[in-house]
Amino acid sequence: MSITLAIAGCGVMGRRHVLGLKKLQEIGQLRFDLVAICDPVESSSTAMADLAEELLGRRPAVFADPADLPASVDALDVTTSPNLHATIGIQALHAGRHVQMEKPITLTIEDGRALLAAAGDRKLSVAENYRRDPINRLAKAVIDAGVLGRPFLIVQSSSSSGEHVVITPWRHRKHACGIAIDMGVHYADILEYLLGPLTTIGGMGAVIDAERTGADGTMYPADAEDLTVGIGRYASGALATMILSVAGRGDAHFTRMVYGTSGSLSIPGDRTGQPLRLSLRAHGEDRIVADNDLLALVPDFRLDDTTAALFGGERMTSYDLPWADSDANLLAIEFDDFAESILTGREPEVDGAFGLRSLAISYGFLESDRLGRFVSVDELLTSGDLPYQKEIEEALHQA
Ligand SMILES: NC(=O)c1ccc[n+]([C@@H]2O[C@H](COP(=O)([O-])OP(=O)(O)OC[C@H]3O[C@@H](n4cnc5c(N)ncnc54)[C@H](O)[C@@H]3O)[C@@H](O)[C@H]2O)c1
Repeated sequence: MSITLAIAGCGVMGRRHVLGLKKLQEIGQLRFDLVAICDPVESSSTAMADLAEELLGRRPAVFADPADLPASVDALDVTTSPNLHATIGIQALHAGRHVQMEKPITLTIEDGRALLAAAGDRKLSVAENYRRDPINRLAKAVIDAGVLGRPFLIVQSSSSSGEHVVITPWRHRKHACGIAIDMGVHYADILEYLLGPLTTIGGMGAVIDAERTGADGTMYPADAEDLTVGIGRYASGALATMILSVAGRGDAHFTRMVYGTSGSLSIPGDRTGQPLRLSLRAHGEDRIVADNDLLALVPDFRLDDTTAALFGGERMTSYDLPWADSDANLLAIEFDDFAESILTGREPEVDGAFGLRSLAISYGFLESDRLGRFVSVDELLTSGDLPYQKEIEEALHQA
């Protein structure tokens, strides 16, 4: 059975989502029929209609506004900037559609609560792609199998991008969704995917570059934090540290390390296909575990059928694909999970509630800074009085 699908937003990510659908078609697993796309910018929607026609063999109808989509559209995939997610998503859910929402689920936590409330019996899936990387799946299997003993620390840290615009200028504006949130939700999701629920957050943020250079040399104003430093405590008692810098000069770095009572696991950058590095400690000695031996430690580990078909194997320790192919594969896996949830009634892997937790954690580092104290994830999810998000509302009024 085919699900009629529309995509709202024909920018960078809208086009990448079309490539994801193509990957599903290539493995005979495409359960969506892309019948419509929407964007108020005609040149963007025309370019994406051309791309869809070329790749999927059918030209979708074009609309300027998702509100005008015909009733026959079953599901809406939202790939607009985050400040529009709540309005477009709530409208679609009220029209009876299932919604796949690009991350971050919404601009603010309050908007996210409203979106969840609108879902009713419709499926609300968050297109969080990083966790779906086969190497992250393997990392989780290693941790869940107890190979590291009791995990007690995770370090997620990265520095990149210098003083340049990261993809689009809106990512540097608080009222449109600053990069600490836009990228931060990926890492918040990974933190909870690997080690379970966080309970308490503390952090600080800073704006290093108040102006950023676009690809054509244009300077753009930037009022959103480009540096976040955070800590967290898990329900399990483990601790987390998170550094997200897109103001990086000099050497770039990416670190994702999990430490447990039996060893450490170094997890490579998402979509790189690089292998894990597992070090086990016994009798006071540390030993690097070879890839084949690592697989033997997780005998039950199997990628799901769609992931295995896309990446070429059920049990792999690395893969060698161009970045664009790994990226499209992960987007294909998201779509497949969304289709499965619609057709079987089960919840999507990253549902609205989980997507909202990632948003709350990313804001938590900045709210903690404003409040001058730690904040609980529960407080972040339920409070109507959070100072950083008040600043966003003020910035929205000024924009
Ligand atoms: N998961 C990832 O790896 C990843 C990567 C990039 C972007 N994203 C997410 O995808 C989303 C879009 O980011 P982007 O980089 O594509 O932004 P973008 O600015 O390139 O594209 C957004 C598009 O939405 C269009 N738009 C504006 N108003 C609209 C409306 N009312 N209806 C329909 N379309 C409308 C704009 O004209 C634009 O073409 C964001 O939520 C972002 O965080 C995710």
